[in-house]
Amino acid sequence: MKKYNNGNFTLKDENQTVTLYGWVNKIRNFGEMVFIDLRDRSGIIQVVFNKKDLNDSFNDVLSLKNEYCIAVTGVIKKREEINKNLKTGEIELIASSLEIYSTSLDLPFNVYDDKEPSEETLLKYRFLDLRRKKLQNTMILRHNITKAFRDYLNENGFLDFETPILCKSTPEGARDYLVPSRIYKGSFFALPQSPQLFKQILMISGFEKYYQIAKCFRDEDLRSDRQPEFTQVDIEMSFVTREDVLEFSEKLIKYVVQKSTGEIINYKFPRITHKEALDKYGSDKPDTRFEMLLNNISDILIKSNLNIFTNPINDGGLAKCLVVNNNTYSRSDLDKLTDFVKKEGAKGLAWIKYEENEFTGPIVKNIDEDILKELKDKLNIKNNDLILIVADTKKVVNETLGRLRLKIAKDYNLIDENKYNFLFVTDFPMFEYSVTENRYAAAHHPFTMPESASKLNDKENCLSLSYDMVLNGYEIAGGSIRIHDEKTQSEVFKALGINKEEADLKFGFFLDALKFGTPPHGGIAFGLDRVVMLLAKTNNIKDVVAFPKTQTTSDLMTNAPSTVSKSQLDELGINIKEDLND
Ligand code: AMO
Repeated sequence: MKKYNNGNFTLKDENQTVTLYGWVNKIRNFGEMVFIDLRDRSGIIQVVFNKKDLNDSFNDVLSLKNEYCIAVTGVIKKREEINKNLKTGEIELIASSLEIYSTSLDLPFNVYDDKEPSEETLLKYRFLDLRRKKLQNTMILRHNITKAFRDYLNENGFLDFETPILCKSTPEGARDYLVPSRIYKGSFFALPQSPQLFKQILMISGFEKYYQIAKCFRDEDLRSDRQPEFTQVDIEMSFVTREDVLEFSEKLIKYVVQKSTGEIINYKFPRITHKEALDKYGSDKPDTRFEMLLNNISDILIKSNLNIFTNPINDGGLAKCLVVNNNTYSRSDLDKLTDFVKKEGAKGLAWIKYEENEFTGPIVKNIDEDILKELKDKLNIKNNDLILIVADTKKVVNETLGRLRLKIAKDYNLIDENKYNFLFVTDFPMFEYSVTENRYAAAHHPFTMPESASKLNDKENCLSLSYDMVLNGYEIAGGSIRIHDEKTQSEVFKALGINKEEADLKFGFFLDALKFGTPPHGGIAFGLDRVVMLLAKTNNIKDVVAFPKTQTTSDLMTNAPSTVSKSQLDELGINIKEDLND
């Protein structure tokens, strides 16, 4: 067994004879003397090979190349020239023997530097990328974060469960990954989108406090914070109120952040309702590290003669704006911002500048003085401010201005990257209208408790006891208080347009369990990958997953997904369509 960590040696270890193991990180050859940096997970130590000390085996030293895996025996000595950039910079290993375990092919990129080849190359050679310092540090951070979650949950009486990966398909919003059954040809298992129903059943079984570091699978469009398979720290508790779950989750994440990064979060997490989040930030996961709120100016612009504002407002939409202080955007920058909001779904972006005590811009001449004055007062406009307006449906206005707000913050460097701004978003709507399906669907999932069963018929306004935890503009956890009585559950299904037969077919096993003495319960699930991503200060989820998938859901290292043999398909009773685009 390896006894030492190469990166931990100090002057205190001087004159010790040791055998060290690792990889050749870098080589400097001076003829009779060869220096190498020997790397292991803990760091680097300089090794000095003198021809006179190694005799015949010096030829082996000369054959070394980067990333050879070796063992070196020698004595730790004080260095003549200290390297302040290295933890072990005061000492070096004077080698007396070398054993080469394995050689390495020429490398597609250097492991020792931070130069980034293409993402494709990095993912294909993930085993080499994982040798690099950045990924090694991130994987160690991920371990520490996972351990802290486990420690806190174990300490607080939560039991660690495993739930099945081969499940019944119970749609939760995203598309399922399906696994064909060999024995029941034509039938499929689904990989779990989350262990939601199993954890609720464990509450019905009386375990009271559950957790699982659970793999979840969702076949959905990927983004920089989404992977098709990801990990949740999944939690459920019985005999709790919403307040209990929120308080516990807050304490838990504070513990995790402190244990894994040393950072102490000493404020109480602010709470904001879903409605307020959309009104002010245009997002249900607001980044509160900077202000720049959305302002509703429909009441003022409805009085203008401009159709671009009055039409959408009269059609039930609204007009909102952002104010950029000390504007430096040029005319062509504003054209780019217009393209940006158009890509996000808005018809256009109206802008008004206030410079040298005057409003300027293409639409100003069409707006009455009084209206401009009203805008100036309401928005507290000062010289060099820029007003950016979108008028459209409520959804489009909030989404586009919400995204534009983040873009402006980046352009103007408004975000303090050292901040951890946590908050809870509460009171999500119970239902969400699905345009594609032309019906109301559950906004969280159909087992979420409505704020009141009597409101179930008012689908636009019925709220639920669900909540998200948000950190720096990312949703890092979501959960809810669940329905624990069959009557409310049936009413919710009815409100969702799911009839009894359909409900029995999809969730019959769960509805049965619900009839056998269900305790009040609720829970939450943290997106572990997202938590690691934010604590590692990256905005790419692939950076924190050991073996991630690409944006098009493939694994470039193993080449998955791949075709399978005809005999495998025959066993499953599956024929592949000739024209796969059908
Ligand atoms: P939800 O769907 O909100 O809730 O998921 C919980 C958290 O999981 C993370 N997450 C993801 N992370 C990476 N890639 C993805 N594709 C992905 N999808 C979700 C997010 C999210 O906040 N069963 C419920 C939880 C509950 O009600 O207790 C659930 O899965 O950080």
